[in-house]
Amino acid sequence: MCGIFGYVGMKDPVAIAIEGLKKLEYRGYDSAGIAGVKDGKIIDCKEVGKVSILESEVNNIKLQLDVSIAHTRWATHGEPSRINAHPHFDTSHSIALVHNGIIENHGELKKYIINQGITFTSETDTEVIAHLISINYEGDIVKAVQKTVPMLQGAYAIALVHKDHPDLIVAVAHESPMVIGVGVDEAFISSDSQAFAPHTREVVFLSNSEIAVVRANKLEVFNLEMKPVEKALEKLLHGSNDSSKGEFEHFTLKEIFEQPQSIKNAYATRFMQEYGTAYFEGLSDNLQELHPIERILILACGTSWHAGCVAAYMIENMARIPVQVEISSEYRYKNPIVEKNTLVIAISQSGETADTIAAVRELKAAKGAKIFSLCNVQGSTLVRESDYTIFLHAGPEIGVCSTKAFTSQIVILSLFSLQLARMRHMNREQGKDFLEELQKLPDHVKKILGNAEHIQKIAKKYAKYENFFFLGRQYMYPTSLEGALKLKEISYINAVGYPAGEMKHGPIALISSDCPTVALCANERTFKKMKSNLLEVKARKGPIIAIIEEGQEEVTEIVDDVIIIPRTIDPLSTVTTTIVTQLLAYYVALERGEEIDQPRNLAKSVTVE
Ligand code: M6R
Repeated sequence: MCGIFGYVGMKDPVAIAIEGLKKLEYRGYDSAGIAGVKDGKIIDCKEVGKVSILESEVNNIKLQLDVSIAHTRWATHGEPSRINAHPHFDTSHSIALVHNGIIENHGELKKYIINQGITFTSETDTEVIAHLISINYEGDIVKAVQKTVPMLQGAYAIALVHKDHPDLIVAVAHESPMVIGVGVDEAFISSDSQAFAPHTREVVFLSNSEIAVVRANKLEVFNLEMKPVEKALEKLLHGSNDSSKGEFEHFTLKEIFEQPQSIKNAYATRFMQEYGTAYFEGLSDNLQELHPIERILILACGTSWHAGCVAAYMIENMARIPVQVEISSEYRYKNPIVEKNTLVIAISQSGETADTIAAVRELKAAKGAKIFSLCNVQGSTLVRESDYTIFLHAGPEIGVCSTKAFTSQIVILSLFSLQLARMRHMNREQGKDFLEELQKLPDHVKKILGNAEHIQKIAKKYAKYENFFFLGRQYMYPTSLEGALKLKEISYINAVGYPAGEMKHGPIALISSDCPTVALCANERTFKKMKSNLLEVKARKGPIIAIIEEGQEEVTEIVDDVIIIPRTIDPLSTVTTTIVTQLLAYYVALERGEEIDQPRNLAKSVTVE
């Protein structure tokens, strides 16, 4: 799981590659490397840690290359180390190669290569590819790659340079993204077009098993039979490029504070107040697509899966359509039963999550399913493979922990639930009421953000604890999962989200004065029951921080600390409550001195299964 970049052209291939790698760090940041050809030799530089460390080193050694390939890594095979960092090489150091993905049969291939008398230098699966290409090389690098690709199993995108071919990069994609940017007398290769978007917006996306030969002024693409493939040039849409922290200490905090605007962006132009319903361009004019729907299947991972869980409550309550929510990596191996008239919705901030993409591909191939997606990134793999996409319009989310994308997902899913409900039995007045509540959210969120100092004080008080429960009922149950994930991810604290009513069936055994509970009380329908559950926690000496809505002050006598949020309707309370849990996680991590924007062991986009 990694980011790949390459440059061939008249500008400085080292500086451009470093700039590109920085934009790819969301795909991994445990080590980085660059290589290329200079004076008929392969030269490289690799460092453990972030791209900025590699940048210092290439400046230090004044690295110069005629053509470059570069890589930022998230370790799958072998620890983060200089040896395991990409690029990898063949024994004669004629080939340098970078790779994103996993070679599933690398064990067998390694045995085959060792039997040829070759010694490995790294623990990676990638190194096998460099050796295989070298074994298959008889003077024509493209033919060597063509002979090697059928030997590889798994998902991979690779790019390589050869010392005897200093004017070109060879790139291959198979179930992993690879996009080529075509400029004037220059060309780029990357896992993500955003990495070279400042230089060119003319792109070619490689399809499975296509081999691209990329020169500064010529792009050729071949299939595995070495037949030329005609590829159409596509134009990238202009997205927001604001990727600075502004006045904030971290991207995560900036993105939390952007939510009054990102929430507005998510619903603006997507509703018709007068008719009390939602409006999605390209979909609402073809409502016959939605009429036959009898069930909905939602696929997602991580925070996006939590959004899917909230959506299940919304759609079932409001539109009375049964919803199944699945974690993509589990769903793939279930031998799924997909009944007729099932709408499949894939949710992903990045659109590059390998598990979700794999599940979607399988559903399309085996069941002929149509795919609706919710995504934040234009041109991403999921978007290109979906039949219809609703964009989050949240702007770039740089912090590894997903914040504003989640609340945008909830807002859009609430509008989608409204649309389905209005097509069935919800009347216009009820629809209008719902929309009024929705449009109050940005102000509610501003008010909560205005209370950040109080939340920070509470965070400081509790930052020393090593175990937390997040409890909630109904909408607050998936909200508790999301709150706990935020705390785990950036504070490295063990936090568990749990349905409050389920505590007495086992986990209450863990409650003690050492284990605080964050009580998510906002769901009005289950408030009384939640209060009883909190009394059960208190009876066992568990400290409680309660997030309550205005009007729920009666719990203050039970709990230790309270955060009051504005009142909204139950389906939208996930948004208001989540702003608090995001701030809580942020300030706890800050207090503990943890790395917030790029927490250890993680990557923003999980591009391997
Ligand atoms: O890009 P996606 O929404 O598909 O990503 C899914 C998860 O990897 C992601 O939400 C992850 O759980 C976040 N780091 C959570 O903050």
